Amino acid sequence: MYPIERVEPLNAEVTRMVVRAPEIARKIKPGQFIMLRIDEAGERIPLTMNDCDPEAGTVTIIFQAVGATTMRLAQMKAGDVLLDFAGPLGNPTELEGARRACVVGGGLGTAIAYPQAKWLFEHGCEVDVITGFRNVDLVILEDEIAAHSTRQIIMTDDGSNGNKGLVTAALQQRIDEGANYDIVLAVGPVIMMKFVAATTKPYGIKTLVSMNPLMIDGTGMCGGCRVKVGDEYLHACVDGPDFDGHLVDYDDAMRRGVMYRSFETAAREATEG
Ligand code: FES
Repeated sequence: MYPIERVEPLNAEVTRMVVRAPEIARKIKPGQFIMLRIDEAGERIPLTMNDCDPEAGTVTIIFQAVGATTMRLAQMKAGDVLLDFAGPLGNPTELEGARRACVVGGGLGTAIAYPQAKWLFEHGCEVDVITGFRNVDLVILEDEIAAHSTRQIIMTDDGSNGNKGLVTAALQQRIDEGANYDIVLAVGPVIMMKFVAATTKPYGIKTLVSMNPLMIDGTGMCGGCRVKVGDEYLHACVDGPDFDGHLVDYDDAMRRGVMYRSFETAAREATEG
């Protein structure tokens, strides 16, 4: 059993949860995820690590209450326990050797982008972090990113924070200014990662994207998380979740993403009663 130590809403939709899991906290690295199950009746859901504290033995996750399980999770309190919290799963993001990086986070993807930026910053890399949100009320982790980046640029769709536009506009501007990145990492909606990769491709900048397809077992057995990369189908859970952004077939990923939406809607409606 895994006790919940802290639960904190970050905005109306998004919750930060600190879970006591000492074994995982010792091993987990940026980019890796855990599989969580609330109780015997619950489904298993993958959540990527947002932060960890090996000394305190805790792992932090951030999630949006959009599905049946995340809605239940958002109602849990400090002192409640989770039945399963398995991991670390997936491969850590390859961050070694980067000197000038840009980490791009879209919406909730910012929760995953943050540990990547933090690791790079703490290892002497110059790190720009560009994040995008629908509006200023949905901005998350602004203070944490400010403390672990060289430069933070927050973009909103409606300009309610002063910077109106897409993350790709900010990325293009930084490239034009001579940022000279040796790596760009993108985490967020598939469509955003597609256009981040399209922005960096003409410059030949190494670009990694973190794919987050439907996952069921998280061990490479069910095939639910297949992603087309170049000419082959790979599994996000065991081969990823990071892939070469210039090789991923984003249109295929978006088609597969909508295939399961009706099942999730039915499950959510059942939970809401
Ligand atoms: Fe089943 Fe990846 S989640 S193969």
